[in-house]
Order: sequence, then structure tokens, then C-alpha cells
Amino acid sequence: MIVVLSLNTALDRILVVPRFSVGEVFRAERSEVFAGGKGINVARVLRQLDVPVRVVGFLGGLPEPFIRDRLARAGIDQRWVTVDGESRTCVIVVDPISEEQTVLNEPGPHVSPAELDRVRSTLADSTGPGDILCVSGSAPPGVPDELYGDIIRDMQERGVRTLIDASGGALRAGLLAAPWAAAPNVEECASAIGSGEPMELARRLSEHAEHALLTMGAEGLLYAHRGTVRTFRAPRVKTVNAVGSGDALVAGFLAGIEQGMEPADALRLGMACGAVNAGRLEPGIDPAAVRRITQGEGEPGEERFPARPDEMRASW
Ligand SMILES: Nc1ncnc2c1ncn2[C@@H]1O[C@H](COP(=O)(O)OP(=O)(O)OP(=O)(O)O)[C@@H](O)[C@H]1O
Ligand SMILES: [Mg+2]
Repeated sequence: MIVVLSLNTALDRILVVPRFSVGEVFRAERSEVFAGGKGINVARVLRQLDVPVRVVGFLGGLPEPFIRDRLARAGIDQRWVTVDGESRTCVIVVDPISEEQTVLNEPGPHVSPAELDRVRSTLADSTGPGDILCVSGSAPPGVPDELYGDIIRDMQERGVRTLIDASGGALRAGLLAAPWAAAPNVEECASAIGSGEPMELARRLSEHAEHALLTMGAEGLLYAHRGTVRTFRAPRVKTVNAVGSGDALVAGFLAGIEQGMEPADALRLGMACGAVNAGRLEPGIDPAAVRRITQGEGEPGEERFPARPDEMRASW
């Protein structure tokens, strides 16, 4: 079973605003509301790929009934810890002219130490040997950076592999616990382990995670594993809204691994999901479009770079 941790669950409002800029008044051409947050984006794509998924996390306030309903309809198994505060609302402004997206994220509710304990025990009750846990995104206020590291160690003791996709101190703490996989983008990775060229960052990431995925948006990603860094080029799509493509990539990769694929094939599936997500306004994928990419049309190219052992040993 794939289990997703969603600490900073969100209600995402997507507004389509042509020629958006700051400091002016605009009327949105279109407005859509979705259940959101990194973890939920991952869970949504897993269900779209027909893979069972369970979500554990914090939920509270006005967005709660909406999110419960949307996830139930998507067939996602939900194990929420209800919090006193209000789950956040995030606004994503999509400009169809510039093809740029502007994201305004609320910080999320302050969670108490008791609520934190409850989420850790719910996670323990919701995972078992052989499962994969996906830990994605920022944590709400009140959650110490060390939590992701602690969770990764808890999971290792339970025979659960963990993939982490986070940034800054939370990613750094997670990497120190040696997760099974890590999938930050370049900026997130640099915020945790210090700046460097992408190739160097991927090598350093792989000192901590068996599967190190360093994502680079429309350029694709670097995959570092067992002393080799490989470049995977992304399929070309017309970008509509690339927010959540990292989450779609993670979902496709995990779906492939869960189905017994080799990591490189799982990555190709993930990258097809990332590309299809980028080509749509709403978060998520169309499985038929993903299949068209994985079965040949615009399949991502791949180049190999042997990692140099001396550089592999460089650390922060
Ligand atoms: N415009 C795009 N065209 C094609 N593929 C894309 C595009 N954007 C992203 N992807 C694919 O999705 C993967 C992840 O994207 P990206 O690096 O933007 O993640 P991210 O910054 O974590 O995004 P988010 O956090 O919003 O989910 C990329 O490695 C690439 O394979
Ligand atoms: Mg991301």
C-alpha cells in the first residue's frame, strides 16, 4: 500500500486571469476549487492511475467537509487527525497569455504537540511492512523540522520505505535519516544541502537517499542511484499549469515501483504524469494521455553520466 502524509492539507482555488500582474484589480475568467496540498496531489494522481492509496494527515475548519467529500469520491482511504485550527486555502493564479503561474499559500493552522502525537500514532496504525510512505511538502506552524526525520526512522523500524519531497530544514532533517527516496526540485534541494550545479546536487542527494530524484521542471530531471547520475529529458507539452507536476511525478514513480517496474521505467511513467499535469489547468492527469507518452509519442530521451567517486563523497 502507498500511504501519503498530508500535514498541510489545503483547499486550492485556481483563478484564470489573463495578463495578471501585481498591484491592479482583475476579474478572473474562470475559477475552480480543488482539494490540495502536496500529499493530496500525489494521492489524486495515484488514484487516476488506479493505484490504491491512503492519506494520513491534519484537517480542520471550513475546508474539512469539502476535502473529505472530494477524496471519498476519488476513492482515497482517509485517516485524518482533526485539528482545532483551519486548514489553509491556497490561491493559484494562472495567466494563459504569459503561461506563468502565481501561487499564494497560507501558512496553515498551528498544530499542538498533542495533535502531532496523534498524527504519528495514526501513521503507525496505518502502515505496515512493505508499504511506501510519501512525505510531501511543507508542514504547518508548530511542527518542528525534525518531524520528517523522526517519521522516516519510525517507518524504517516498521519496514516501510519513505520518499521525501520537501525543502529547507525539514528536507535536511529527513535526509539525515537516510530515506529510501528523495524528490526535491533544484531550489528545494539547494535550500537543504547548499547550492551547487544540478549534477553535483544530485550526487550529494544520493549520499542520503537510495533513489535521488532532482527535478528541473520542463527540462526533466536528474536521477542518482548507486554511483551513477542519469539525465532524463521531459516530454514536450504546452504548459498550462505546472503547479503539482512534482507531485504527479512522485505519484507516477511510486505507482511504477509498486507495480514492480525498474526505477528507470517508473521514472518515465512519473515524468509522463508530470508532463500531462503541466498541460492541464486542473491538478492531476488523464491516464490515456500518460499512456500515449509512455508508449512512444514524445518519450523522454535519456543520457547517462557516470558519477565520479571523489565527487560522490563531497558533502555539506
Ligand atoms: N512544463 C513541463 N513540461 C513537461 N514536463 C514537465 C513540465 N513541468 C514539470 N514537468 C515534469 O514534472 C517533473 C516535476 O516538475 P517540477 O520540477 O516542476 O516539480 P516541482 O517544482 O516539485 O513542482 P510542484 O512542487 O509544483 O509539484 C519534471 O521533472 C518533469 O519531468
Ligand atoms: Mg515539488
